[in-house]
Amino acid sequence: MPALFVTGTGTDIGKTYVSCALIRALKAKGAVVDAFKPVVSGFDPKDAAASDPARLAAALGAPGDVFRIAPRRYLAPLSPNIAARLEGDTLRLDDMVIDAVARAAEIRDGLLLVEGAGGVMSPLTDDKTNLDMVAALGAPVLLVAGSYLGTISHVLTALVALRAAKTAVAAVVMSESLDAPNLVQTAEALKPFLGGVPLFLAPRSETWDAGALADHLLASGRAP
Ligand SMILES: Nc1ncnc2c1ncn2[C@@H]1O[C@H](COP(=O)(O)OP(=O)(O)OP(=O)(O)O)[C@@H](O)[C@H]1O
Ligand SMILES: [Mg+2]
Repeated sequence: MPALFVTGTGTDIGKTYVSCALIRALKAKGAVVDAFKPVVSGFDPKDAAASDPARLAAALGAPGDVFRIAPRRYLAPLSPNIAARLEGDTLRLDDMVIDAVARAAEIRDGLLLVEGAGGVMSPLTDDKTNLDMVAALGAPVLLVAGSYLGTISHVLTALVALRAAKTAVAAVVMSESLDAPNLVQTAEALKPFLGGVPLFLAPRSETWDAGALADHLLASGRAP
């Protein structure tokens, strides 16, 4: 299945930022790419432009596709299962997996970026996490991390969990955190622990050029 699951070491870490940059880079290289957000919480219809699906839609050049990209939208800025319950809904992993598989199948010779919610083991439903969705999809993962002090432990812990679920990790992206130690120094300190998983750096900027990451995914067959 031509899908790449974008997850993070935590919430607010840069998953959407990196996904949008990757979408732009893949499109610039002529690749076909689409995006899917299985569930979004903290979605305020009055401020939809700031939402993850609106940012993904803008990167895709399809600003009207917000509802298509994220069919499950909840107002409370809480864990998706709790936000859904506040609106009388119960989230089920199977429904989200079925949607993602169907969306990936619609893409011919292209890639579906699936942005999870929160971090690798953040709950999606009352008893399933993002890791369960990754395992059910059998998709490789792009792990987005910060560069703050403490990130190395968070990255390595996430990688242990992903490996235990027999998930392929296509790459790690270190997205520069605010008020963090030197980005390159932190990345160099992480590298020896990665066991060969490629590491890409996204310095603070308005629009990171993810061309090198796109090239890696294309060359490794992670993106057709
Ligand atoms: N490398 C970076 N350069 C500039 N801004 C960044 C960078 N990384 C993250 N940001 C900004 O930090 C904020 C949080 O990033 P983002 O929304 O991508 O995180 P997320 O992991 O997708 O969050 P969520 O868990 O809510 O989905 C956003 O305003 C984003 O634009
Ligand atoms: Mg996001």
